Amino acid sequence: MGKLIILNHPLIDHKMAIIRNKNTDTKTFRHLVNEVGGLITYEITRGLSLKEVDVVTPITKTVCKTLSKDVIIVPILRAGLGMVDGIQMLIPTAKVGHVGMYRDEKTLEPVEYYAKFPKEITTGTVLVVDPMLATGGSASAAITAVKERGAIDITYVGIVGCPEGVKRLNNDHPDVDIYLAAMDEKLNETGYIVPGLGDCGDRLFGTK
Ligand code: PRP
Ligand code: URA
Repeated sequence: MGKLIILNHPLIDHKMAIIRNKNTDTKTFRHLVNEVGGLITYEITRGLSLKEVDVVTPITKTVCKTLSKDVIIVPILRAGLGMVDGIQMLIPTAKVGHVGMYRDEKTLEPVEYYAKFPKEITTGTVLVVDPMLATGGSASAAITAVKERGAIDITYVGIVGCPEGVKRLNNDHPDVDIYLAAMDEKLNETGYIVPGLGDCGDRLFGTK
């Protein structure tokens, strides 16, 4: 079974209070979603493997360490895009693949409409990112999509989750660890997370 890690950090909690507030404007919302994405990534990347490299400093030769594997960020469109800049601030060499999913409003089942991944997807550390883990359908389908292209080392990075989504992801992809900034109470009858933050894509892109 994959690990479930809920980040517990005063800065994340503080930013989450602003993100959740319905009166927060689009620019601030987008900025904070990116920042929280970065803070979560700082924790996730603690376990990345390193290789030794020779470096010449202004003083002498020495041996340093650099990341030994590629990191591939795979945002689930649209809302996952809102976390990419924050993650790339910390890992500027990360490559980005894209997977487009939307939820059918009646069935709540995900529909894939776009997929493009870098070739390193088969050997790198893949971070599938989407702020909202609601039914878990989109995340599960996106992870299936990267596995079909040969990805093996996969982590899910979200902001707000709920028990229903975690259960689905654990069930469908027990090999995938789940990182979240907050674990909320439940889903409502229309598939929104409670208390949640509303429709993340709409709040990021100002489409409502
Ligand atoms: C939202 C969100 C997730 C998905 C989560 O996307 O960004 O991708 O719902 O729900 P699930 O866990 O029940 O699948 P949405 O379908 O609204 O598309 P959008 O990001 O393009 O707005
Ligand atoms: N997608 C969102 O953007 N918000 C939710 O609460 C659930 C799914």
